[in-house]
Amino acid sequence: MRIYDIIMKKRDNEELSQEEIKFFIDGYTDGSIHDYHAAALSMAIFLNKMNERETIDLTDAVMHSGETIDLSNIEGVKVDKHSTGGVGDTTTLILAPLVASLGIKFAKMSGRGLGHTGGTIDKLESIKGFNTSLSTEEFINNVNNINVAVIGQTKNIAPADKKLYSLRDVTATVDNISLIASSIMSKKLAAGSDAIVLDVKVGSGAFVKNYDDAVELATLMVKIGEGMGRRTMAVISEMAQPLGNAIGNAIEVIEAVDVLKNEGPDDLRELCLTLGANLVVMANKADNYEDARELLKEQLSNGEALEYFEKLITAQGGDINFINDYDDLPKAKYIKEIFSLEDGYIETIESDDVGIASLMLGAGRVNIEDDIDHSAGIYILKKIGDYVTTDEPMAVFYTNNESLIEDAEKRFHSAFKYCDSPIDHPQLVKAIVSIDGVKKFK
Ligand code: URA
Ligand code: CA
Repeated sequence: MRIYDIIMKKRDNEELSQEEIKFFIDGYTDGSIHDYHAAALSMAIFLNKMNERETIDLTDAVMHSGETIDLSNIEGVKVDKHSTGGVGDTTTLILAPLVASLGIKFAKMSGRGLGHTGGTIDKLESIKGFNTSLSTEEFINNVNNINVAVIGQTKNIAPADKKLYSLRDVTATVDNISLIASSIMSKKLAAGSDAIVLDVKVGSGAFVKNYDDAVELATLMVKIGEGMGRRTMAVISEMAQPLGNAIGNAIEVIEAVDVLKNEGPDDLRELCLTLGANLVVMANKADNYEDARELLKEQLSNGEALEYFEKLITAQGGDINFINDYDDLPKAKYIKEIFSLEDGYIETIESDDVGIASLMLGAGRVNIEDDIDHSAGIYILKKIGDYVTTDEPMAVFYTNNESLIEDAEKRFHSAFKYCDSPIDHPQLVKAIVSIDGVKKFK
């Protein structure tokens, strides 16, 4: 088999066989197939697309390009969640202990900040002592003991995806549904859980900008997951504006604890209940979605979800004092109220720009090896549909470096568009996609 022939075949819009796809991925992983081959093939796939069978074969090959985690030593249904990436998305910190408190095993590998979005692992590292790199054995032990563990993705998970994703990123080949779906699902499937809920974000802060594309991507990922014997559901959720109010690291930990204390922002709570209810149903702990939601609400109001959060933090070496004393988390030296530049109703928010403004304050990295300022971030006080005036704060900035504020503020303001007449608050959960089809929410 020759990579040249495979590229030519896809260039000429023919279907690739399972063997050809595996040959490409194996060769690209071991270095015998080069970046220029992979770039040409990615562009051919981008232009001529892959069908469902090719996409499943690609996912399978990428998944097996490295280590796959064996969770069979954990009893019961193991669940996992994945978000396609949003701004201010703190759901994992809430969802993991919330679901675990019902006896469901949540074995989670999470990532660091990427592009304009933050990462769960960076957020957790705001907590004194918290260890995000347990060995596979410790990871499995913790899930067996307390139903939950959250660690950074190990290096050997889907190495082909790491190479291919970086390459696509610089060759304008990211936005192809087969490449995105196989990239996401290969990592999730390698991480070993039995049931997966996908949070497919749509809107200004997401890489999928419209509803129909989101449904298409979600449907394909659900088919891939189910095709590989895992129960898979997807929630289509709004990313027209940041989730909750906090965007950063320590301030997002606080926001998550607020929700676990049965307080906190409604949208963040709602998304956790929706994602969680799908996991509860897939783990056979409730007969239907409505019952599952009620169970989860009860866990938030009776304090058990918070109790499992404490167990999670303690089991991974963290100090839980911050839960009752937020001053125990990294604190910013500079706190600045930001005022609107005009009066009006907020009509749209470019969430990417808000995410970037937060990174500019120190909450994210410019280079891979950079340290992040865990205290840095943005707390937004006004969202779409809210009325703002120039003499009222619309956000609060946090940073340890005062010189970063001016540029971040410009970027932040550039994200907002205003209008004169009232407009509706956007609908958060748009649809739930299962193997049986799409259930659209009114
Ligand atoms: N996230 C991924 O992990 N891969 C993609 O291709 C796009 C988003
Ligand atoms: Ca948030």
